[in-house]
Amino acid sequence: MNPDEVITEIESSGLRGRGGAGFPTGSKWRTCFKFESTPKYVVCNGDEGDPGAFMDRSVMEGDPNTVIEGMIICAYAINSHKGFLYIRDEYQLARKNMQIAIESARKHGYLGNNILNSNFDFDLEIVRGGGAFVCGESSALMASIEGNVGEPRAKYIRSVEKGLWDKPTVLNNVETWANIPPIITNGADWFKSIGIEKNSGTKVFSLVGKVKNTGLVEIPMGTTLRELVFDIGGGIIKDRPFKAVQTGGPSGGCIPKEHLDVSLDFDSLNNIGSMMGSGGVIVMDDTTCMVELARYYMEFLSEESCGKCTTCREGIGTMLKILNNITLGNGKMEDLDLLEQLSETIKEASLCGLGKTAPNPVMTTLKYFRNEYIDHIVNKKCTAGVCKNLTSYSIDKDMCIGCGLCAKKCPVQAISGNAKEPHVLDMKKCIKCGTCYSVCPTGAVKIGGAVIES
Ligand SMILES: Cc1cc2nc3c(=O)[nH]c(=O)nc-3n(C[C@H](O)[C@H](O)[C@H](O)COP(=O)(O)O)c2cc1C
Repeated sequence: MNPDEVITEIESSGLRGRGGAGFPTGSKWRTCFKFESTPKYVVCNGDEGDPGAFMDRSVMEGDPNTVIEGMIICAYAINSHKGFLYIRDEYQLARKNMQIAIESARKHGYLGNNILNSNFDFDLEIVRGGGAFVCGESSALMASIEGNVGEPRAKYIRSVEKGLWDKPTVLNNVETWANIPPIITNGADWFKSIGIEKNSGTKVFSLVGKVKNTGLVEIPMGTTLRELVFDIGGGIIKDRPFKAVQTGGPSGGCIPKEHLDVSLDFDSLNNIGSMMGSGGVIVMDDTTCMVELARYYMEFLSEESCGKCTTCREGIGTMLKILNNITLGNGKMEDLDLLEQLSETIKEASLCGLGKTAPNPVMTTLKYFRNEYIDHIVNKKCTAGVCKNLTSYSIDKDMCIGCGLCAKKCPVQAISGNAKEPHVLDMKKCIKCGTCYSVCPTGAVKIGGAVIES
């Protein structure tokens, strides 16, 4: 195949980037191919910063040759002679295995000069990740490879035209690269026969959280969330009620049970306010507080915001302050409008994808779990028993069988009572750890709102 045929095959396969945005891979390669400026670069994004995600790590550790082969194919197609693998610094085994694979490929004539006597030269170099979530963003990643601070830049000029050292660059995610060799070997039609229209092939998800079977799952695009959580994942631990799923990493959205039948593909997830992201799926049961969850993600993102643009730097910090207030019991109803206004502005005006997607957890929890916000603000109650200032425990004497398990497990001896008689909880001693609630076999321990001293 000549370079044009290779690109045409990738275009017709419909492969979309697996790193988050779902951009058509073939079209990215085609644009880069057209630019005549040299040298051109090929980059693998192995930064994988999403909490709970480990798909790319497993590919790099377990099947590094496929990634290398994908990059060689692209280099040949766009006429690049140098590539970089940017690998998250914590992924030591991935780096080690990738290095072994690169050296072995060189030894066998698949990398280096005059590859397999084809007159084509290409080599790869590993770069250690800068240790920040934002370094996974393509322009920040390239700045980091160049030895600069990993900060993004505005994208009015795409990196396919001016990427690394202002030269045409193709950057793809690890999983995207791993999809290339099978497409070239089996053909675009084979690839399109898997998945659904406009979302061909498979996607790897890391399924974690309150689900019975956790781990990596590779499924055809278009599988439903219900199938993923209940068939493959085996349902919720201890068969507790399903509450929500967070997809797309820290700036993805929360999907409630009404949308359990959503198709897992780029477009359907975007339509309900979430996103595919790189494939992290965190399952939550009724013990998760959605307000605290949104607060947690805002805390993560405010720490990870590089600070270059004002809306992201100041906006996320302000949203975090508001959410802190709500979870501490000091929220006001007007805060909800303010959160919505800030979300819109941050989404609209931020420089990179971090800011543009950061409000997603807040926006989706406000949309699907608004009652929980109202409970925190008006009723001073956290129904999940997570926000300590808004939680109290009591024992329903009619339901208590006096088994003593709660008293035995309570770390501060706040529960007393005789065997086979209803027990009593002393809220003055209680540290609200929730142990009694989780061990009670009859559901006699009840969660209440804040105890307001008169
Ligand atoms: C804050 C932020 C972090 C990102 N982190 C990653 C990452 O760790 N890995 C990744 O492949 N893409 C990440 N992306 C997406 C990349 O910018 C880019 O779209 C992707 O790597 C392109 O490859 P693809 O077309 O094969 O998906 C991140 C984006 C943002 C905004």
